[in-house]
Amino acid sequence: MPSIKVAILGFGTVGEGVYRILQEKREEIKISTGFTVDVVSILVKDKAKERLPITGANYTDDIQDILGNPEIDVVFEAIVGEEPAYTYLSDAIEKGCHIITANKKMFAKHGPALLKHAEFRDVKVGFEATTAGGVPIIRTVSNLLIGDRIKRIQGILNGTSNFILTKMRDEGFSFKSALSLAQQSGYAEADPADDVNGTDAFRKLMILSTLAFGRQPDWEDVPVVGIDHLESADSNDASKVDLRYRHVADIWEDEKGKLQATVGPVLIGADHPLFNIDGVDNAVIVDTEYLGSLTLVGPGAGMYPTGSAMIADLLHIIRQHEAVLVPN
Ligand code: NAP
Ligand code: HSE
Repeated sequence: MPSIKVAILGFGTVGEGVYRILQEKREEIKISTGFTVDVVSILVKDKAKERLPITGANYTDDIQDILGNPEIDVVFEAIVGEEPAYTYLSDAIEKGCHIITANKKMFAKHGPALLKHAEFRDVKVGFEATTAGGVPIIRTVSNLLIGDRIKRIQGILNGTSNFILTKMRDEGFSFKSALSLAQQSGYAEADPADDVNGTDAFRKLMILSTLAFGRQPDWEDVPVVGIDHLESADSNDASKVDLRYRHVADIWEDEKGKLQATVGPVLIGADHPLFNIDGVDNAVIVDTEYLGSLTLVGPGAGMYPTGSAMIADLLHIIRQHEAVLVPN
């Protein structure tokens, strides 16, 4: 059976999710694709940390163990921040590897360069997990673009914020205790500031902007507000008049063709499609010229939803580009 060799950069919530799914679904992947997928190397920062026991792969803290291994076909990236992630992925592309990333902070800024570089090297870039967790919004928008035109995208793009807003409204949690539970559940970033100040949702919106409109607005022109000033009393006041707070990221092309975008909490009523989106779920509404309006809903964060999005990218690469995957 031909084998695809993969490396995983980062073995926290997301990296471990990728590894677990690859092990749990090994037989199914083999049957459906004709390939075994073997994890050969996992990059971590601190090799001394106690971790999940793994078989057939090594933990390493040296990226050269991965970049210098000519057998590796695909590099999954689930580390934190712009660097060294961008450099590692550029180097992986240069070596001829396909890359699959969950790192939205890095991809919002460097995604366009990575996509160009990958096209030049004839390798693929999977980035489904960068935006809306397990919701297949990247594939959906990519498919729609083939014969349609995106006019507007709006949605709840941060699972932690939505989880906090729901806990405050339904169970009377304080902001702090709801955030703490989101952290324990693996939804929040290691530093959760960007989850609650709107920056994480903003970055995801910029990734969608590049995909849907082929460009991003000037970042300084986009007002970005978080939920970090809201408390359960605010949610209660809103509920009394049948309204709910939702943290909404919104981008559209105005009548002059200029991109307009906003990110922040809005009060919405029961007739709005985002009214019933609760907990860690995300929802994305896509308005197009021909289809009209489409809403996708699903888990926006967490080990398995995010891992699942990355495995979907891998399967897509295998199915679409078997010719460029040279089996070992
Ligand atoms: P995490 O639990 O904090 O794990 C981060 C992992 O990256 C750790 O294993 C860490 O190593 C490793 N790492 C960090 N810096 C490194 C470096 N310079 N070199 C090598 N390894 C390094 O984070 P996570 O929640 O899995 O998130 C990973 C990425 O996915 C982030 O970019 C995040 O924004 C994104 N993401 C997360 C979610 C989610 O639900 N959590 C969803 C979508 C996207 P050690 O273990 O040695 O510390
Ligand atoms: N911290 C992010 C969130 C993870 O809560 O949405 C998914 O990108």
